[in-house]
Amino acid sequence: MSKEKLFEMARINKDHAEKGTMTLVDDVVKIPAENYYNPERWKKEVDLIFKRLPLVLSVTGEIPNPGDYKAMEVVGVPVIILRNKKGKISAFLNACRHRGAALVEPGTGNQRRFSCPYHGWTYNDEGTLMGVASAHEFGEIDKSCNGLISLPSLEKEGIIWVTLDPKSNLNIQDYLSGYDKMLSLFGLENWHVFETRSVNGPNWKVAYDGYLDLYHLPVLHKDTFGDSFSNQANYYEWGPHQRAISPYRLPEQNDFNNDGKDHYENSVEEWPLDVLMAGVWTIFPHVSIASFNGGGRSIMLSQLLPGDRPEESVTNQFYLMEKEPNEKQAEEAHKQFDLLKYVVETEDYGTGLRLQKGLKTGLIDHVMFGRNEGGGQVFHKWVDKIINTEDSKLPSLF
Ligand code: FES
Repeated sequence: MSKEKLFEMARINKDHAEKGTMTLVDDVVKIPAENYYNPERWKKEVDLIFKRLPLVLSVTGEIPNPGDYKAMEVVGVPVIILRNKKGKISAFLNACRHRGAALVEPGTGNQRRFSCPYHGWTYNDEGTLMGVASAHEFGEIDKSCNGLISLPSLEKEGIIWVTLDPKSNLNIQDYLSGYDKMLSLFGLENWHVFETRSVNGPNWKVAYDGYLDLYHLPVLHKDTFGDSFSNQANYYEWGPHQRAISPYRLPEQNDFNNDGKDHYENSVEEWPLDVLMAGVWTIFPHVSIASFNGGGRSIMLSQLLPGDRPEESVTNQFYLMEKEPNEKQAEEAHKQFDLLKYVVETEDYGTGLRLQKGLKTGLIDHVMFGRNEGGGQVFHKWVDKIINTEDSKLPSLF
């Protein structure tokens, strides 16, 4: 089914490429400029989007082995993801049930037991409270009721989702709206993390708009990606998750067998998977995935999180590779990752940081998303829809 969908998209793109057209939406849409900087609005988005929806907090390749863990802070919430001895993932609040100390510092590691650094209570790799220091003096408590606070989680297709609300009634699988079947085509389960980097950026929506925007490519990135890149995009939706793909006839679509022949005219069923999977795959509300070939088959997964203020965000970039690179490939992968970091940090986020200053003056009433920017329109529609939906009705959106 997912392969069929991929072929269907390729046929639509090919048709547009031949005609020099793209899918256009009905109207130009206006978004209030203050949605990007108003502190109350921003807080609502953090509370009602980031603290209620499943978030991509890791990838299988980051914590692949039994006993591996990852701790991080997500919109102020300390989280720990554990892989137990059977290989199963679970997620918890990284806060001891005695008086709330963090069990481990942010980062990754491998251990089966976690001893709280404050008074020494211990937990196992399933979050169960195993030991209370000086238990006979502390007094009686029921250990079985005092494990770490469990957070809903799902590991699927090489990606790990966690919901920060322990009482969430939103099923993560339902939330994915069938998009996981498309993500499965990347085959990320056995890929490994070559390197991760963090980049500071502007307001999370200013940054995220850029991931869905191919309109800017030949202009803003003319010195890096080149000015011959297409500025057209077709968008495809699975619930709030979207793929943006240029209908432009990419050079690698001509001679994808490297045999000097033009294979573009072949039926799409014969196209290689890499060509079929091109473009940007976004996972609402904060992730984008794009394929590269620096040092071998690779992707960059960008995990965007709001910072401490409306005008700040942090993006964790994961460079994932299908195979362990040799020395030469590792060098190429570094080069590719360096370029991508530069493009995002200097060109995209540099522009975003300056544009939000203009918006924050209050002198611009609204920003616009054109008929060729359907992806941005859909993104903002979902942001509005979600922050205006009460908890009990949230599952009905997906
Ligand atoms: S806060 Fe963890 S043992 Fe006291």
